[in-house]
Amino acid sequence: MITSLKPLLKAAQENNFAYGAFNVNSVSQIEAALRIHEIFNSPMILQGAELANAFMSGKNDFKNASFEEKVKGMKIMADAFYKITEKSKIPSVLHLDHGSSFEICKAAIDAGYTSVMIDGSSKPFEENIEITKKVVDYANKHNVSVEGELGVLAGVEDQVFSKTSTYTNPLDAVRFVKETGVDTLAISYGTSHGANKGNNVVLRKEIAIAVNECLHHEGLDCALVSHGSSNVDPYMVKQINDLGGDIKNAGGIPIPQLQQVIKSGIRKINVDTDIRLAIARNTRELLERNESLLDDKYVKMIDQRLKENPKDFDPRYFMQDIIDTMITGDIPTDSLQEVIDSMKDAVMEVCGRMIVAFGSNEKYKLLDI
Ligand code: G3H
Ligand code: 13P
Ligand code: ZN
Repeated sequence: MITSLKPLLKAAQENNFAYGAFNVNSVSQIEAALRIHEIFNSPMILQGAELANAFMSGKNDFKNASFEEKVKGMKIMADAFYKITEKSKIPSVLHLDHGSSFEICKAAIDAGYTSVMIDGSSKPFEENIEITKKVVDYANKHNVSVEGELGVLAGVEDQVFSKTSTYTNPLDAVRFVKETGVDTLAISYGTSHGANKGNNVVLRKEIAIAVNECLHHEGLDCALVSHGSSNVDPYMVKQINDLGGDIKNAGGIPIPQLQQVIKSGIRKINVDTDIRLAIARNTRELLERNESLLDDKYVKMIDQRLKENPKDFDPRYFMQDIIDTMITGDIPTDSLQEVIDSMKDAVMEVCGRMIVAFGSNEKYKLLDI
């Protein structure tokens, strides 16, 4: 069952829980994510950022994709998502993560995305309001929900690098939500994207509290979103490094801190890095324990990529030679099937852990759809 984010937000606001929103980059990741949401009876939010859509267009060099290639990939992503989720009992949302322009958000809506983010956070405040409002106006006509962002996260945000984080100003948040009409607002309060969030991160949870309270005082019904929220489990990082990886200065957001901010109106918690790490760990482990798999030409290429660049843990890098399988779900050999199965296990492990931690398990029947 496919829906916008709106009914999911209503259920979460009324019952005080949050959803993990999981980034996916292949057909089998969508399948695995749905399976684990079905097992836990949780509504599902999957998301693709512009680069994920670029990869889904079949372009190995996805970081240099054109607008047209991203749009092509959006259609492939949306078609796969509909095919896989449509008949499930689970209400499922396909969300565009970090849309950078009105045109890309419009293309996502036209391709079938049921929710979009317009990330104007690096623009001047007035410009951010203007572009976000334009997206909301278009999205409203198509029953699509919209996420805006105010404040800048530290770290790498869709190729935009900001060295310092500018936390969200709660008073600006009120004006932003009033003038744009967004359904959700991503705030900056100490999280950051990627695997290097710092040692012992302490979230500025008072920012989430203040934004939430200010919005309520003004009668504004807008849920908050936490980007850059991966846990970056040190034991998982150690396993990757013990298996030949080279991930340095890893650090993430402890889950208890995220559970704290759910009480302050955070309803959507974005997780991408943890899924990438789990896939890298599972793939490395599988190949180390089953050398005979390397007789398969596809698996061999994955192994070579892992060895060639031990710092990279993005499956779009080490699985680029099987991009056809990633975007179609067609798996040519039994050995490659084992690799894909271990990737699915990784997606299920991370999503399952977050579904339970954030409390969306068993909530699928609360939705008014
Ligand atoms: O917030 C960014 C997400 O982790 C998406 O990453 O742009 O590499 O697909 P990506
Ligand atoms: P992580 O890098 O912490 O997984 O954050 C993902 C994210 O914010 C996607 O929008
Ligand atoms: Zn993000």
